[in-house]
Amino acid sequence: MPFKASSKMPAKLENIPAFPSVAMKLLSLLEDGESSFSSIAACIATDPVLSGGLIKRANAADQPRYCEARNVLQATLALGIDRTREISLAVATSAYARTAVQSEILRPCWHHTVACALAASEMARRCGLRPAEPYTAGLLHDIGRLGLLSAYPAEYEQTMAAADGQPDDLLRMERERFGVDHVEAGLWLARRWNLPESIVEVIARHHETPAGTLDQVTVVQIACRLADLLGFSVNRPTKPPDPDEIFAALPEWARKRLGAQLAGVKDAIAREILFFEGVEARGSGDRGVMVDDGETEEEPPAWPFLDELPTERTSLGVLLAAMAVLFSAAVLFVQR
Ligand SMILES: [Fe+2]
Ligand SMILES: [Fe+2]
Repeated sequence: MPFKASSKMPAKLENIPAFPSVAMKLLSLLEDGESSFSSIAACIATDPVLSGGLIKRANAADQPRYCEARNVLQATLALGIDRTREISLAVATSAYARTAVQSEILRPCWHHTVACALAASEMARRCGLRPAEPYTAGLLHDIGRLGLLSAYPAEYEQTMAAADGQPDDLLRMERERFGVDHVEAGLWLARRWNLPESIVEVIARHHETPAGTLDQVTVVQIACRLADLLGFSVNRPTKPPDPDEIFAALPEWARKRLGAQLAGVKDAIAREILFFEGVEARGSGDRGVMVDDGETEEEPPAWPFLDELPTERTSLGVLLAAMAVLFSAAVLFVQR
């Protein structure tokens, strides 16, 4: 049965900017397995902030690469389709978190969003599911919260402060304050923006207890709780989350694999948050970071945890670059 959004929304929610058209176009392009790297790069190149963010991510220290990416196409090739989709949608979503990033009380909302997205993709990867869709769904699961805090920053900050230490009461407090909670607000925004039905379902059901088949909804439900467990909760929980309860819906082998790698996932989340906050800080000022041909004018940011960087995020782009190097070497050898 399709999930229906309530028609009674707080007035200012109508005024928040539409989901960027470039992100919507990317969603459909990236869903189409036939889309070429150049058509995806051409779409991204229409948005300077997105382009700049993607190039910086491709050149970041934790990204395996053989040469510097100097334009969007090279960045897309280096990152691969899935990572390009993750980064592009996160940059697009971060626009709604601009207010949150500047407020001590609201900042955990954005951190939780990024943490849930990355935890969902890591979990999907370890459980044999395609990681890009769960990442996108994780990124958008709390879009209603980002929408409410973007439309009513002062009021949402007060609601968050009142619910501090009582996370279970936050949904009820949202309803008292705004007439709707962030699940209903998210559902309404998702319908308004024509987001895919698979994401609408995640938004509608992310506060249900994970159970049953391991699909995108269950993965995001678990990832949302895992984000809390790793310290990226929206507000302080009264008692620490119980890992056994969180992972109960996972198969035994996946639970063991994920449990052994939680520290690595936590570090990866911390890096992802730093990156997107950097993009948002640059994006909220001068949007013209990038010149037309895709070259950036700034040095890449300094990255912490340089000695602990994960090496798992290989990509099609890296594979292509490696093949190109091998091919060039073979040509040189034959010519000698
Ligand atoms: Fe939520
Ligand atoms: Fe969540």
